[in-house]
Amino acid sequence: MLLGVNIDHVATLRQARGASYPDPLDAALAAQQSGADSITVHLREDRRHIQDRDVQRLVNVPDLRINLEMAATREMLAIAAELRPADCCLVPEKREELTTEGGLNVIAQLDELSQACAALQAAGIRAALFVDPEPEQLDAAKQTGAEVVELHTGGFADAESENDRRQELQRIRTASEYAATIGLRGHAGHGLNYTNVSDVAAIPELFELNIGHSIVAQAVFSGFEEAVREMKHLMLEARQS
Ligand code: PXP
Repeated sequence: MLLGVNIDHVATLRQARGASYPDPLDAALAAQQSGADSITVHLREDRRHIQDRDVQRLVNVPDLRINLEMAATREMLAIAAELRPADCCLVPEKREELTTEGGLNVIAQLDELSQACAALQAAGIRAALFVDPEPEQLDAAKQTGAEVVELHTGGFADAESENDRRQELQRIRTASEYAATIGLRGHAGHGLNYTNVSDVAAIPELFELNIGHSIVAQAVFSGFEEAVREMKHLMLEARQS
């Protein structure tokens, strides 16, 4: 099972002071050395954390796999086509949100997302869609031609009761199995942390988890390398047991 480390919040810390540090590139290299299989960055329309130049510098590092999260806008598609990261994950984006709040409504945006996936693939980029764990959204994702679906784990991570948590985990399990059945590669992410990651990592149909906030938060106490190593260890342990 692969770990994609999202380093947006390293840039958040830099932007908070308008400083030149901490540098997301340093975080990416430290993560790679500590077991990260790819680096995820979300280039938001409002550029609140990651900047265009960050993405440019990251894609120029040899042997570093970059997953660019972005909205399916003309501007972002042009940036992706120019920078050609290995992966692009299309996400819904609202200016006022603190973080991505839900999956794409692929059913409602079938044409637009199909065109976006085709444009990414024409540039040699693997196309992913961030979706809620719902079979109808997965069917629509398949129709767009996307190769990957990233299942939104926020409902599971934010569940307030044990019953809700179990139900949300079951939705992710069912969606992961269904994605595999229809030939979509299943990834998952959002809100995963050192306490809840094992349940999701244990789902055999999932290939990759994307995790950011909890790793950057833990890095404050244990350092970035150790925070990444510990997360990868928990994932692999859950997978083996
Ligand atoms: N996957 C997607 C599509 C996201 O938008 C985010 C947040 O940027 C993540 C994963 C990582 O979420 P978190 O920072 O909560 O680990």
